Amino acid sequence: MRVISDAGNLSGKKVLLRVDFNVAIDKAGEIMDDFRIRAALPTIKYLLKNQAKIILMSHFGRPNGKKDGSMSLVSVAQKLSEYLNTKIKKADDCIGVQVEGLVASLNNGEIIFLENLRFCEGEEANDQEFSKKLAALGEIYVNDAFGVSHRAHASIVGIPKFLPSFAGFLLEKEVKILSQVLENPSRPLSVVIGGAKISTKIKLIEEYLKKADNVILGGALANTVLHAKGLAIGKSMFEKEAIAGVEKLEITDNKLHIPVDTIVSEDRTGKGENRIAPVGKISENELILDIGPETEKIFSAVIEESKMVVWNGPMGLFEVNEFAHGTEAMAKSIAQSNAFSIVGGGETTCFIENLGLIDKFSHVSTGGGAMMEFLAGDELPGIDALSNGK
Ligand code: 3PG
Repeated sequence: MRVISDAGNLSGKKVLLRVDFNVAIDKAGEIMDDFRIRAALPTIKYLLKNQAKIILMSHFGRPNGKKDGSMSLVSVAQKLSEYLNTKIKKADDCIGVQVEGLVASLNNGEIIFLENLRFCEGEEANDQEFSKKLAALGEIYVNDAFGVSHRAHASIVGIPKFLPSFAGFLLEKEVKILSQVLENPSRPLSVVIGGAKISTKIKLIEEYLKKADNVILGGALANTVLHAKGLAIGKSMFEKEAIAGVEKLEITDNKLHIPVDTIVSEDRTGKGENRIAPVGKISENELILDIGPETEKIFSAVIEESKMVVWNGPMGLFEVNEFAHGTEAMAKSIAQSNAFSIVGGGETTCFIENLGLIDKFSHVSTGGGAMMEFLAGDELPGIDALSNGK
């Protein structure tokens, strides 16, 4: 993989830099965690120091190919400009006449920031014409967006077909550290998977059941497993489409750890009454909102015996204090363990940062899905594209 420091003289070169600034925001649209912005600074500073003309690109959220003001990159560009202590020109679109004009007006060591790539349908469709138009804005392409390198989108795999392409320092670092884990894991290796979206994670769970010594499941993802195995889950969140895939998972596999008790309530705001319920013992009107104390103990014991732990996704509805205990317990037991610990995913990372535990983790990855796919042994399209491009 060629890295940007291999690109030679960058002075006056128009560099298209893909970053993943898909940061966590709160309900008011304020940035809650700018870890991904900070993580990309070394590459941006390197390009500025070497007098490149930087054209920054990112996606934000899932606007489905349509403009949506709530997913504009304005505040992200503002945050970056504070970190760099420099002005950043913000474009209103990602291609078109205004963008071309801004690029033409760039001086050496200046930055323009394109608008959310996912406002254009061509991005997620990996449309060839869209990739070509983006590529025409620059002379060199740099991928420093590890977090989205598992997506075969135009700005990730399309542009490298047209331009000399390099990895940024963040991508290089992620690949280096995670490759060591993949090739030579310390054992016992435990993988903790939470959050929702089980359909995208089923394949990973199957892979990890082969590769790891323990696979711990929590969050809405575990609800789908419980439901598929015929246990009552009341009104809990689960994914219907994923049931067929989950049925294949061998629940009696002693590597697989699922909750034995849960915190349930009829009210997800945390204001109603909560109770501890053994799995399956839930009424029709209740929802599972966190793992229970017995499960915390079992999961923590598994972690304590591990030499390496990989974690992605919360154990419950951790945005609500009343249901954050299980996720906090996992964060604490991983932080206190002697295991080499890797955590990834915007929400999980933001949570441990707020707990003041981020420094206790051996590696904090900027990737959630990307990290999990990489560690499952999948080739990430974005990394592939750097080797197979122009
Ligand atoms: C992430 O937050 O995991 C990446 O930015 C990818 O986002 P996506 O899951 O919406 O493609």
